[in-house]
Amino acid sequence: MPSSALSSEQLIAQTADFVRAKFLGEGSGHDWEHIRRVWLTSRALAATVPAADQMVTELAALLHDVADWKFHAGDEEAGPRAARAWLHGLHAEESVIQRVETIIREISFKGLGVPTPMSTPEGEVVQDADRLDAIGAIGVARAFAYGGHKGRPLHDSSVAPVVHDSFESYKKNTAPTINHFYEKLLHLRERLHTPAARQLAQERHQFLETFLAQFLREWEGEDLAQLQAPA
Ligand code: ADP
Ligand code: NI
Repeated sequence: MPSSALSSEQLIAQTADFVRAKFLGEGSGHDWEHIRRVWLTSRALAATVPAADQMVTELAALLHDVADWKFHAGDEEAGPRAARAWLHGLHAEESVIQRVETIIREISFKGLGVPTPMSTPEGEVVQDADRLDAIGAIGVARAFAYGGHKGRPLHDSSVAPVVHDSFESYKKNTAPTINHFYEKLLHLRERLHTPAARQLAQERHQFLETFLAQFLREWEGEDLAQLQAPA
């Protein structure tokens, strides 16, 4: 088995350049800046998980959304395939390619009723980092960027949130963006793997709760009650 001609630093740097060029300016919240944050967070989390290999973690973080099913007609294998093709082109070791491919295959949220265990410590780190970027202030911004990109209403109180118990039903979902908070975002905190991610999630989760309470208060005009009628 020929070993990689590139050092791990070169593999990571070339992969970062490739992904940056591909995703710069993307408008649905899956842009290069999302990937950059997931990469940085993954690096920080991996430093707290001795079993996580730094190179595999960084490559998987950089490539985790390279061909997301959400933008490839629901094709779940598009991501693993694109990551394999890229790393193969750099002559990365087959074992590294396989580990990255597995992480990308396992990482996505697939519906509240569908468990998404990660089979490796690197996968746990990258899934945690990806999920941390879906909560907090950035998570709120990304949810509405995605909803706008898909032409969804902000909110409709007549459409009840759904617990999707298959990936197929989750994929077909076209509900208003506020429903996504109840169908996914508010549950991510409980589904993190690493203690460091759980620590970071506390204030990000609290921000989601605060945002939702204020959004619904304004939506229903509850704050209007503070106005005094003229005497
Ligand atoms: P995952 O693969 O776990 O879905 P991604 O990195 O692809 O993770 O990020 C998903 C992002 O897209 C999140 O920020 C999430 O809020 C947003 N998103 C996905 N589906 C919806 C939806 N139906 N409504 C609003 N935002 C969504
Ligand atoms: Ni992502």
